[in-house]
Order: sequence, then C-alpha cells, then structure tokens
Amino acid sequence: MLGIGAYRPQRVVSNAEVCETLDSTPEWIFERTGIRTRRWISGDETLRSISAAAGERALVNTGIDRTKIGALILCTSSWLKLTPHGAPTVASDLGLNGIAAFDLTSGCGGFGYGLGVAADLIRAGSVDYVLVIGAETMTVGLDPNDRGTAMIFGDGAGAVVVGPSEENGISPTVWGSDGENAEAIAQDVNFLEYMDRAQALQGTDPSVEAIGRMALRMEGPRVFRWAAVTLPRALSNALEVSGVSKEDIEVFVPHQANARINELMKKNLGLADDIPMANDIENTGNTSAASIPLAIEEMLVTGKAKGGQTALLLGFGAGLSYAGQVVTLPPAPKEPSFGA
Ligand code: UT7
Repeated sequence: MLGIGAYRPQRVVSNAEVCETLDSTPEWIFERTGIRTRRWISGDETLRSISAAAGERALVNTGIDRTKIGALILCTSSWLKLTPHGAPTVASDLGLNGIAAFDLTSGCGGFGYGLGVAADLIRAGSVDYVLVIGAETMTVGLDPNDRGTAMIFGDGAGAVVVGPSEENGISPTVWGSDGENAEAIAQDVNFLEYMDRAQALQGTDPSVEAIGRMALRMEGPRVFRWAAVTLPRALSNALEVSGVSKEDIEVFVPHQANARINELMKKNLGLADDIPMANDIENTGNTSAASIPLAIEEMLVTGKAKGGQTALLLGFGAGLSYAGQVVTLPPAPKEPSFGA
C-alpha cells in the first residue's frame, strides 16, 4: 500500500441525537458498542462524491502520476443501482476514465476482499497500480427505529493505492464465507418487490411509509457468535500464511463493528496489551467496507501507528464473510480527512 486517503462526512451525529428517535440511551450505546459519535452524509454528499474524495486524497497522498493507475475497485454495499455500477463513474470523476473499474460487494469484509484482489492483479501482471476504495453510505438503508442497527452504522470512505514494491507488503489473503448464516445480516425488502411497489405508487404517494424502507437488519448476537468462532481461526491463519509471528505484529486493525468484539479478539489472539489497536469506531461508527481504511488513516494521522509498521487486518460481516491480511502500513497521509 503506497498511500492512503479518506473522507469523513461533515455531519457529526451523537448518541444523544440517535436516541431522539431510537428507544435507547447514549450510555447503553457506548457501553455495548464503543460508539460515541458517527458521521452521516448531508447536503451534497453522496456515495459517489465521498468515494471520489477519498480516492483523490489517496492519489494525492501517494504522489503518483494518476495515468499509471490501471484499475479501480470500489468496495461497497451501498451503491443503490445495480446498473450502472459505481466504479466506472467514480473513475471518470477522478480523471481515470477508460481504466478497468468494477464494484466489489462483500459486506463489511469488502475492503479485505478488494485489497486481496488488487494485490493478486499486480502479482499476476494484469496491472501495475490499483486504486482500492472502501465506501459506504449506510444511512440510506438505515431504519432509525431499529435497535439492532440504528446506533451502529455510519458513512465514510477510505482508499489506498496498491502498487509494486521490492518487499512484499501484502500477505496472501485469508478469506471465507458462511452462506448458511447469510440471513443474519440482510436487507428486509427484496429489490423486485420494492421496485414494483415504487412503480405502482408513482405519482401518488412516494413516501417511505408507503413504498417501504429497504432497511438493513442484523441479528447482532448471532453475528457475534459466528465472529467468536470464525475470526480467531482466520487471524491465526493470516499469521501462518504471511510467515509473520504474533510477536512481529505492531498494529491490529480489525473491522470496526463493535469495540467489545475487538477487545475480545485481541485478547484471544494473545497480542500484547501495548500493541495499538484501531478504535476508530468511537467517533466513526461502523462504516462497513470503509471501516478498515478509515481506521488505518485515523491511526496514521494521530500517530497511534506509523507508516512501515506491520499490521494485521481483518474485515468481517454480511455474507457472512471475512477477509484479512498482514500488511505493511502506508505512509501517514499528507492530506488527512479530519475536519473534512
Ligand atoms: O459490521 C458487520 C458485523 N457486525 C457485527 O459484528 C455485530 C455484532 N453484534 C453486535 O455488535 C451486538 O450484538 C449489538 C451491538 C448489535 C447488540 O448488542 P448485544 O449486547 O448483543 O445486545 P442484545 O441484542 O443481546 O440485547 C441485550 C439487551 C436486551 O435486553 P434484555 O433482554 O437483556 O432485557 C435488549 O432488549 O439489550 C437490549 N437492547 C437494547 N437496549 C438499548 C438491544 N438493543 C438495544 C438498544 N438500546 N439499541
């Protein structure tokens, strides 16, 4: 990873604000998830604009001549149209029109999948440089009254430029899925029914109440149980395939789903207490496929981690799917995302 960039939406939403609608308390939310605030898009901000903004920052921070970028992978589960998909439009917004550009949907594990595909494209010689963007506007499908999701999800985008290097900076990917538990995180409206209803109501009643909300539902405790069994194995496999020992890990960047899950994973893996662990969830919430690049960026900007350090990454979520790698962290961004 040669450079990183991120975009954090301008609107900061506190637990107290979430609780104006949700039947919960700010204290419960912080204690059970580790979240204090999250960012939600507002005004002109869209998935397209925040993806391009994060991509632009990654290109600028890498200092690369953008004509060298051969492919763009947009990792997201919140691009609302199946056709056209998002990556070609974002590529053209970035002055990269014409390059290979595709979306990759693998829930909160999406960035790990994208990073793995990018590294393998480069190793195979298909392209020299890839821009990987993890971006989500989770709020477009958020039911503000749902106790299982409303307080968790946030919006944001993070991006990295991946390219060739003398030393291997991205280990083979450790990844997998469990379709038998796929319904544990799912949209509660299927696209065809939704479109039919919207079509039937066109010009009469376009309200959310009438059409229905394409809301994301999550059986949190079920995902928690799956995570507790699957992820420790994935983490040890990542160490094994990378040839790096536990003692060599300098930074731990798990998906920012729940600070309690992350504390447990760190403890179970036996990482030393003083190994810095990402805790971007506190002020960013769970941004699904954007969470890992956002968390890395936060650690580099605040000095909790340094460019060149060896980090263990693990994304997990809808699918249920996971993907992780041992990586060398990119240099700290010259243009940080805070205050965006
Ligand atoms: O990013 C994709 C991957 N996602 C994950 O990994 C998510 C994993 N799961 C979680 O993060 C947690 O399961 C949640 C944060 C979603 C929920 O926390 P929990 O500790 O598992 O809560 P629970 O559903 O087991 O409920 C515990 C109690 C219940 O009350 P009783 O029965 O003990 O009286 C719930 O009614 O907390 C209550 N509760 C709430 N209270 C206030 C559940 N949700 C809420 C809420 N506010 N939002």
